Amino acid sequence: MRSYRFDTRLVHVGERPADRADWRNGTPTSAPIHASTTFLYPTAQALDAAFAVGGDQVVYTRWGNPTVQALEALMSDLEDGRGAVACSSGMAALYLALLAAGTPRGATEPHPRHILASRDLYGATETLLRDFFAAQSVRVSYCDMSDPAAVKAAVYADEPDVVLLESLSNPLLKWSDVEAIAHYAHQVGARVVVDATLATPVLHRPLSQGADIVVHSATKYLSGHGDATGGILVARAGLLLDTARRYAIQLGMILGPFEARLIARGIRTLGLRVHRQCESAMTIAKALRNHPRIRRVIYPGLPEHPQHSLMALQTCGLFGGLVSFELADATREAAFAFMNRLKLILPATSLGDIYSLITYPPISSHRELTEVERAAHGISDGLLRLSVGIEDARDILADIEEALGP
Ligand SMILES: Cc1ncc(COP(=O)(O)O)c(C=O)c1O
Repeated sequence: MRSYRFDTRLVHVGERPADRADWRNGTPTSAPIHASTTFLYPTAQALDAAFAVGGDQVVYTRWGNPTVQALEALMSDLEDGRGAVACSSGMAALYLALLAAGTPRGATEPHPRHILASRDLYGATETLLRDFFAAQSVRVSYCDMSDPAAVKAAVYADEPDVVLLESLSNPLLKWSDVEAIAHYAHQVGARVVVDATLATPVLHRPLSQGADIVVHSATKYLSGHGDATGGILVARAGLLLDTARRYAIQLGMILGPFEARLIARGIRTLGLRVHRQCESAMTIAKALRNHPRIRRVIYPGLPEHPQHSLMALQTCGLFGGLVSFELADATREAAFAFMNRLKLILPATSLGDIYSLITYPPISSHRELTEVERAAHGISDGLLRLSVGIEDARDILADIEEALGP
């Protein structure tokens, strides 16, 4: 399907053999769910050969399952990768990505020495760095990845072996120049891991901008319907892919076939959903900008956003489906009262669903950080994050305006 454009591949890849010659009578149009832990071979010799080949041969579901492999093939194709590993959650995919990226060439065990991470990370990712990596004597340092000069200085000074960032950060929506960061990182031999959950492959493909691994929480935009938890890692090179797959199998971080099917089905409409969500987010951000009860609106589509022009250039003018805003009354009480008055927008702790969702980072995504740490990140007690759904933008806006009060 490589000759087709992105939106077409989004709909078809991995669903059935692309070549008619590979269809048998009665080939299913949509991929079946292979709810089987084991796979049979007619002879012991054939089973022995399947064990030896590895890769696409299916023997035991923890090592590989056709439904999961279909999702992996789809994501690898969309991200222009060498291959993908589907995991049980976004956090599992991130952990795996850091382990694989921190495995020196020629080594068989993860041995990251120094991870240079973005200051603007999802709260649980920051906790993972602190409680797992830093606690095991891996040096973890931070810099502002939206500032290429700061990244250059940090990379050259520290010579990390892994650089970790979110291309569009959560919840402050800072955009990072993956191409520039990968250029600096590769000069010192570091591998670049990009969490592109918020951007989705519709906005950009980090591997073609030089990243080594791209990670998604498939729980979000990829599945899109709030009914599946999963994560996916796509690698640019075979060595990283093989390492990640080996760790996923050893640690049992795999995705089940039912979730894989739900996520693959969600991806079929990703293009339509994300375009609609970007358009509605822009409408809502512009409308809220002058509201007397709102102190500031954070949306990269607004010209005053510091990375507006760069992002416009790198994402063909798409700015994502999240809008963050700070209430003029920046208190927890005012934020709770606002959330309690919403009728349409759901107070659910996720993003990227067809439904509009509101999150209050101090009690959800950044709950595990202290108040001081949150303040250092620029997350005040008045900050709310809206994930725009696919409802009519006028209804979403009316709900917000009503909840804000006169
Ligand atoms: C940017 C980002 N990365 C990773 C994750 C973790 O994903 P999951 O909840 O699927 O483990 C999240 C969850 O909110 C996220 O927002």
